[in-house]
Parts: sequence; C-alpha cells; structure tokens
Amino acid sequence: MLLSICNLSGGYGETDIISDINLEVAESEIVTIAGTNGAGKSTLSKAVLGLLPRLSGTIKLDGKDVSRIDPEFRISHGLGYVPQVANVFGSLTVLENLKVVRHVKERERRIDSMLDAFPALKGRLRQYASTLSGGERQMLAFARAMMSDPRLIVLDEPTAALAPALVNQIFDLVRELPKRGVAVFMVEQRARQALAISDKGYILDQGRVVLSGPASELLADERMAELYLGATH
Ligand SMILES: Nc1ncnc2c1ncn2[C@@H]1O[C@H](COP(=O)(O)OP(=O)(O)OP(=O)(O)O)[C@@H](O)[C@H]1O
Ligand SMILES: [Mg+2]
Repeated sequence: MLLSICNLSGGYGETDIISDINLEVAESEIVTIAGTNGAGKSTLSKAVLGLLPRLSGTIKLDGKDVSRIDPEFRISHGLGYVPQVANVFGSLTVLENLKVVRHVKERERRIDSMLDAFPALKGRLRQYASTLSGGERQMLAFARAMMSDPRLIVLDEPTAALAPALVNQIFDLVRELPKRGVAVFMVEQRARQALAISDKGYILDQGRVVLSGPASELLADERMAELYLGATH
C-alpha cells in the first residue's frame, strides 16, 4: 500500500482535531477526502506531510512508518503537496517557482515537461506568481508539486475559487495522473465531481471518518445528502 493511515489522531494543541482516522491509498489510485468546512480535511493532509504538531497512530508510506519523520524526508521519498493556501511564492517568477523546488532530478528537462503538461504557464515564465490569475496560480502550484516526480500527490482543494471551466480543467489533469504512475490524495469540497473521477472516498465530519468506500457506492449513498453534499456539487 502506498499510503496507510492507521488510528490517526492529532491536532495543533491539546484538543484532537482529527480522531481515529483509518485510510489507505493504493498505487495509482485517486482518493477523495470530502467534508464540510472545519471538518479537519486540511489538518489530515498536513498530518500526511508531517506538518501537524501533535499526533498518535501511524502513517506509512510504501510500508515505511514515517509518522515521526520530517516533511523533507517524505517529499524526497515520493510525496508531493499542494497546500490549500500559500502554494506558490508570489515574489518569484513562474520560472523561479519551478527552479527552487528541491529533490528534482534532471531539472531542465523536468521544467520542460511541466510546461508541456501546463501550457497556461508557458508564455508566463517571467511573470511574478503574485500576478497570476487564480487558475494559473493553481496550475503553477500543481506543476511545482509535480517537479519532484512524486508517486503520491496530496492536493488540498485544488479547485477552490476557480471558475467552472477551470474546475473541469483541473479535474482533467488529476484524472491523468494515475496514467503517469501518480496516486492522488485529494481534499475537495466539490465532492460529487471529485468522486466521479476517484476510486475511493472518505467523508470527514468533526475530525472523524463518517462514511467511506468505493467512489461509485458513495455517489449512490443516501447518507451523502444528509452529510451536506447535496445535489449541487
Ligand atoms: N494552525 C492551527 N491552529 C489551531 N487550530 C487550527 C489550525 N488550523 C486549523 N485549525 C482548526 O482545526 C479545525 C479543522 O480545520 P481544517 O483546516 O483542517 O478544516 P478543513 O476541513 O480543511 O476546512 P475547510 O473546508 O474550511 O478548508 C478548525 O476548527 C480550525 O479552526
Ligand atoms: Mg481546508
């Protein structure tokens, strides 16, 4: 199993923000984590990266227990991360943002291949990231995370605040990742759309997994509506 989370609880201070989470992501799988605002989705993503100050339970990457190992090591061992906020350096240009990523092999070639994958960035290499549109910025954040050739990418709300056409574009990119051998751990509020391209899903409520299973079953599950997801997304 690429990622296994076992009995994971933790938070920023004394109180647990996430509780008793069990979750798995297999090789080349797309897994969606959904839930209302404040449910603990970003907190769980941070735990996967090693950015949560306090936790109990275990997080294994490719069978190795990394629960007490720093983010740097996790990234050098195949983990990519697009945080929900502050996911690019605004004061650097597009090209500089790609150049400063660590743990990159064959950097120039990798940059070229990212520009092929994200053509929106091609004509903007010298533009400061702070001046990019929301969609372009998200593309750059995505490209940055892909620079180190991760086997598992953690995406925290990749479509937040994007127009519908861009949302579809991002989901199209995500859908392609397994074909390149990349598995996806994706936090999304657009649960229905996200589940439609996912293998599995986990619904969080107040820091706990309240519903999980194959994406197709979740989409058909009546409890999804009760858990806020409704018909709108
Ligand atoms: N750095 C922090 N220090 C203390 N509490 C925090 C911190 N970050 C988040 N929290 C709290 O943890 C809870 C869960 O937050 P989290 O960001 O994980 O939710 P979320 O599911 O990602 O929500 P959203 O959909 O709004 O992004 C919230 O009550 C939040 O206030
Ligand atoms: Mg969040």
